[in-house]
Amino acid sequence: MSHPETIAAHGGVLIDRIAPADRKQEFLAQADTLPRLTLDDRHFSDLVLIAIGAASPLIGFMGQADYETTVTDMRLANGLPWSVPITLSVSTETAANLTEGQLVRLDDASGRFVGVLELTEKYTYDKTKEALNVYRTDEDKHPGVAAVYAQGDVNLAGPVWLLQRDDHPLFPKYQIDPATSRQLFLDRGWKTVVGFQTRNPIHRAHEYIQKCALETVDGLFLHPLVGVTKSDDIPADVRMRCYEIMMDNYFPQDRVIMAINPASMRYAGPREAIFHALVRKNYGCTHFIVGRDHAGVGDYYGTYDAQHIFDEFEPAELGITPMKFEHAFYCKRSQSMATSKTSPSTKEERIHLSGTKVREMLRNGELPPPEFSRPEVAAELARVMHK
Ligand code: ADX
Repeated sequence: MSHPETIAAHGGVLIDRIAPADRKQEFLAQADTLPRLTLDDRHFSDLVLIAIGAASPLIGFMGQADYETTVTDMRLANGLPWSVPITLSVSTETAANLTEGQLVRLDDASGRFVGVLELTEKYTYDKTKEALNVYRTDEDKHPGVAAVYAQGDVNLAGPVWLLQRDDHPLFPKYQIDPATSRQLFLDRGWKTVVGFQTRNPIHRAHEYIQKCALETVDGLFLHPLVGVTKSDDIPADVRMRCYEIMMDNYFPQDRVIMAINPASMRYAGPREAIFHALVRKNYGCTHFIVGRDHAGVGDYYGTYDAQHIFDEFEPAELGITPMKFEHAFYCKRSQSMATSKTSPSTKEERIHLSGTKVREMLRNGELPPPEFSRPEVAAELARVMHK
């Protein structure tokens, strides 16, 4: 399908690797004879991202040339910007039993046949180098680095097929894939659309930067991530309910589309901000919000590192414009949300709470204040935390 009036996908063509009916039948006929690999939830997310075109121009798990240049230069081997490895890592023993040129059956964690890998390449890689370049640390306390260290030592590469695109078990209504979101933007006549990445329950600073952005573009694409997150993050179903509450009460429905992002979190901060932006470009967004410590974890990244990294590319080669926001807070003096760009307030006049602090309050039966969280959202969080 071509979408002449929306922005081009990254690399020019929106990828579709959902198996056409005849290919699917072919694969199903070989279900019992193909060598079989079980994907963990992170790898499955990546398979889906590739299949639906969210990771365009990738058509499969990365080969060594793309992998190496991604790690060292933030580019695919052909020079196109790309910031995080999308790899399928297996143990040396598993890799030894597979041969280049083979089709490999891919199962999800529950053992369901979900896809096929056309294995073209197997290669070893340097985990510490990947950690230092992509995550800017080699500490295994970093959840993204820990995931790299825990995965197998050999990357399998090659084009993939997803057998079929099943409805999301929890959020079917919000499963809007790139071809569809692009069409929806066209239908609504939106020429400029800002994407918003999130893995946390919505608070007023989120709402503030979303609405500041919405003042200058035609539409807002709220795109909460529902893939794997670290264990102390708030579960996706709770976050989605909070967003539904916000949509019902505080957002102009005709200017906002909410959809789920099937990706898993890497917590790679700056590198992940570039990846997040490119994925939203593939969904048809022209702009992307990058606030404070985007996709960060702990103290690994400077507050605005995820904004600075965009300066390492020419705007045209990224093809999506970052909308950068300073740390937002409630300002008691002006009685509104603000940042240091718009408020002369002192530190004491600012209300901002960390996610850790909010979780602690909820555990103690306290509600976060209305300056931090809309009361309806606070009530929903409290309800869930006390179950
Ligand atoms: S993230 O890992 O997905 O980045 P989160 O859901 O908290 O975490 O953030 C979503 C977006 O809102 C990111 O762009 C982040 O930088 C931004 N953001 C979160 N809190 C604030 C804040 N207080 N001020 C400005 N931007 C913020």
